[in-house]
Amino acid sequence: MARARTLYRCSECAAESPKWAGRCDACGEWNSLVEEVVAAKPSGRAAARRAAGSPTANVGGGNVGITARLSDIRGTERERWRSGLNELDFVLGGGVVPGSMILVGGEPGIGKSTLLLQAAARLQENGQTTLYVSGEESPLQVKLRADRLTENAGGVTLLSETQLETILATAAAQRPTVLIVDSIQTVFTADLEGAPGNVGQVRECAARLMRFAKESGTAIFVVGHVTKGGGIAGPKTLEHIVDTVLYFEGENTLDHRVLRATKNRFGSVDEIGVFRMTASGLIPVDNPSELFLGDRGLSASGSAVTALMEGSRPLLVEIQALAAKAGFGTPQRVATGYDGRRLALLLAVLEKRAGLSFAQLDAFVNVVGGLRLQEPTGDLAVAAALASSVHDRALAPEALFMGEVGLGGEIRPVSQMERRLSEAANLGMRHAYVAERAVPRRAPKEIRVIGVRTIDELFRLLFA
Ligand code: TYD
Ligand code: MG
Repeated sequence: MARARTLYRCSECAAESPKWAGRCDACGEWNSLVEEVVAAKPSGRAAARRAAGSPTANVGGGNVGITARLSDIRGTERERWRSGLNELDFVLGGGVVPGSMILVGGEPGIGKSTLLLQAAARLQENGQTTLYVSGEESPLQVKLRADRLTENAGGVTLLSETQLETILATAAAQRPTVLIVDSIQTVFTADLEGAPGNVGQVRECAARLMRFAKESGTAIFVVGHVTKGGGIAGPKTLEHIVDTVLYFEGENTLDHRVLRATKNRFGSVDEIGVFRMTASGLIPVDNPSELFLGDRGLSASGSAVTALMEGSRPLLVEIQALAAKAGFGTPQRVATGYDGRRLALLLAVLEKRAGLSFAQLDAFVNVVGGLRLQEPTGDLAVAAALASSVHDRALAPEALFMGEVGLGGEIRPVSQMERRLSEAANLGMRHAYVAERAVPRRAPKEIRVIGVRTIDELFRLLFA
């Protein structure tokens, strides 16, 4: 058999080129050529021998595949291995699926290695065999980390290696059920000339690991560092290859971390798991709302609470706003955890529909706990917090605001009102301001639901 060879392919137009060049000849894009391995074509005789095996095989030059009707395929969803790290199992959709490949992305230092070492320890204790390959740290460094953890990681096997061929050969020989590769950016294959971490290397190594996972039934976790832009280096292509993409995020300065699935072939992508980083590793947080509610004992102006749905789970979040007299020049608009353009829009609506002028005011909005508002439900709370800051009057600490604010100042209903309300009631909320049309027939009895049509009407209720 001929040896595998390499070529360069344009990541924009997919044109091939035998040599690297700064610019693609076909489409003219700069810096788009990525190194790629081409499997060797079987020699003429081997191809002929294979073709002879099936009578119609030479029609299109390939072999005839085996087809089956969906109704004839037996089997149910395969078993899942629970790690016992509940938040991780939950985000994965109920545990680790054998033969699947899971990418864990996140900024350096956020805790990916810690999370996976803890998962490895738990999986090992629950009867799996785990091989932890570190290309970034020596076995001693990994051991020192393990010593800090409350987990019993003693049974986890370590390999300090960066060459893919060695990693795969070791895995093939030891047959672990769970393989962890930390990180994909440090792994390289000798078949490509590029340095570890470049797009071609990352993609090729990930694809081969994926093949290994499918062939051997080994579940593989790979760590991927996220670049400044937020993508995993060796970017979208890597996400296409793997079965599941988890992001581990959080503010570096705060001690909690959020694990979120952005792609999952074996489960929902809406679920999140929340952990707290402590001196002895990551500890799952059972009731995340308490964490994101900030220190609600102090009732100051500019603070309002909303209830978000993170997957199937309602989460109470505090939103803080500060409207302060602007200095010279254009007033500042700064939003953390809330879309900046949405803030600009909301300020315009408040001015036009509720007579609240921000022309001379800087406006700052912050979602407590480093969380991001990804649904419009929080609009009403952002509006209430801003108005509260302008009037310098605190809102009742047990009031909740849920609704999308439209351009006309109208308040629109949001989904799953009853679940949000029951979580709020559990956490001691006593009033909820929602769109008039969204007032549910049955609400928890501890909570009074007040329907409002416009933000103007809301502000009159709150500040009259
Ligand atoms: P690490 O898992 O090495 O991050 P990553 O692999 O994503 O780069 O964790 C990095 C940080 O976590 C590090 O600053 C130290 C902190 N840490 C703790 O606070 N407690 C612990 O028990 C451990 C192991 C780490
Ligand atoms: Mg690490």
